[in-house]
Amino acid sequence: MKPFAIVAALALAGPALAEQAVVAPPEAGSVSRADGLAAWDRVYEVVSHPRCANCHVGPDNIPMWSGPSYGTARKHGMNINAGESRMGAEYVPCAACHVQRAQEDLADNGPNEPPQVALAWQLAPVEFQWFGKTSAEICAQMADPERTGGRDWVALAEHLAEDAHHGGFVAWGWNPGGGREPAPYDLQRHIDDVLAWGAAGTPCAD
Ligand code: HEC
Ligand code: HEC
Repeated sequence: MKPFAIVAALALAGPALAEQAVVAPPEAGSVSRADGLAAWDRVYEVVSHPRCANCHVGPDNIPMWSGPSYGTARKHGMNINAGESRMGAEYVPCAACHVQRAQEDLADNGPNEPPQVALAWQLAPVEFQWFGKTSAEICAQMADPERTGGRDWVALAEHLAEDAHHGGFVAWGWNPGGGREPAPYDLQRHIDDVLAWGAAGTPCAD
C-alpha cells in the first residue's frame, strides 16, 4: 500500500464522531432580522430532525423511534422509560444497551443496533423538549436562558462544539450509522446558524 492509501484507509476507519468545530460569534446586532429568521429556519430543521428530537422528548420520559429508518414514528420499543432521572435509573439504564464507549473505540453503529457514543446515553432534560413542538415554540424556548439551563446563544453554540468534540450525541446526529438519516446540513453550519440567529437578536417568527 502506498502511504496515501494508508492515510485514506485510516480516515475511513475512524468515523468522524469526534468533530472539531469553530465557534466564532458575529458581533451582536451585525445580522439582519431577515437573515436571523432564515438562520432560525435551518436551526429548526436540525433540532426537529429525528436524530436530535428522538432524545429531546417530553415529560412522559419515553424516547422516540422516528425517521425514515423506523417507518412509522413510534415510542421506543421494549417498554423503555427513562424515568425522571432521564437515564433509566428507575428502570433499565439506557447505558445497558447504549454502552458508553471510549472515544477511540467509537465505530459506526450498525442497522438496528443501539447507538453508542462516548457519553452515557440519556434523554435531554425535559425543559429542552423539542419533539412535537412547533418552530415558534422551540424558538421562544431557546431564546430564553431560563429554559436553556442558563445558556445564551453563544453558550448554546459552545455546547454543540463541546459535545461534538467529546464524541457525544451531537456528533452522532450527523454520523448516526446503520442506515439512519443524518441531521441536515453539518455541525459547523448548524453552529454558524445558531450564532447568526443570536447575533440578529434571537428573532422568532410571529
Ligand atoms: C442521546 C440523546 C440525545 C440526542 C440524540 C441529542 N441530544 Fe441534545 N441533549 C441531550 C442531553 C442529555 C442534553 C443535556 C446536556 C447538558 O445540558 O449539558 C442535551 C442538550 C442539548 C442542547 C442544549 C439545550 C439547551 O436548551 O440548553 C442542545 C443545543 C442540543 N442538545 C443539541 C442537540 C442536537 C443539535 C442534536 C442532534 C444533532 C442532539 N442534541 C441530539 C441528549 C441528546
Ligand atoms: C434493551 C436495550 C435498550 C435499552 C435499555 C435502551 N435502548 Fe434505546 N435503542 C435500542 C435499540 C436496539 C435501538 C435501535 C433500534 C433500531 O435502530 O431499530 C435504540 C434506539 C434508540 C433511540 C433512537 C435513536 C435514533 O435512531 O434516532 C433513542 C433516542 C434511544 N434508543 C434512547 C434510549 C434511552 C433514552 C434509553 C434509556 C431510557 C434507551 N434508549 C434504552 C435499545 C435499547
